[in-house]
Amino acid sequence: MAEVVFVDSKAAAGTLAAASIRALITQKPDAVLGLATGSTPLSVYAALAASLAENPMDVSRVRGFALDEYVGLPADHPESYRSVITRDAVVPIGLTPENIQVPNGDLATIETAGVDYEAAIRAAGGIDVQILGIGRTGHVGFNEPGSSFASITRIKTLAEKTRVDNARFFASPDDVPIHCMTQGLGTILRARHLILLAFGEEKADAIAAAVEGPITSSKPGSVIQLHPHVTVIVDEAAASRLENLAYYKYAWANKHAWQGI
Ligand code: PGA
Repeated sequence: MAEVVFVDSKAAAGTLAAASIRALITQKPDAVLGLATGSTPLSVYAALAASLAENPMDVSRVRGFALDEYVGLPADHPESYRSVITRDAVVPIGLTPENIQVPNGDLATIETAGVDYEAAIRAAGGIDVQILGIGRTGHVGFNEPGSSFASITRIKTLAEKTRVDNARFFASPDDVPIHCMTQGLGTILRARHLILLAFGEEKADAIAAAVEGPITSSKPGSVIQLHPHVTVIVDEAAASRLENLAYYKYAWANKHAWQGI
């Protein structure tokens, strides 16, 4: 079962996830982080940056792999995920830019980009902790409904709903690329720990489907039920359609501190 943890603010979610990442880096100075973009993980990156500012530690050897990238946007476009991950995570946390890889959305090399990315993740020894958000379509990464649970990094077509959701970052909704490169659900399953965060009522259905719904590729977030170590961090609104809410709270309240998340 995924562990479900309730928080009363995004900041509290960030603090919890950042403490876990910090503990990982303490044990493994060249830890491999799976980095998500979007609004959801911002509190995690901000909390980790704040923790490092207050109590410095060497993160220069930490490595990172982004979850996804738009196809056809130049890497230096301000909304490419290469730019976003640099701005939101690499710079504030103080990671070494050369240690951070992002799927290559360049059309010239698109046919081999997925396999190359998988090889790079394998060469790094796999991802230790994967930070995840979830879309209103239920996607994790950009694995839209119907994505195979065995899928690897590859090109995908974004759902119209996802393009609408992401239009806020672009001058016009038509500017949102139609295609992306995304780690597959199979790639995500191979990460050693998944931390899925969600805030707000608009994520409640996707969270209920991911945590308690049937395991089905129609609800890609339900892939987390196949993973042995998942932490779902949610606020009350995102948790509002979970049936076993009382049990998750009881389990969290009675968890031994040594277990961490
Ligand atoms: P958001 O996106 O964090 O901006 O809500 C999540 C997602 O689409 O996976």
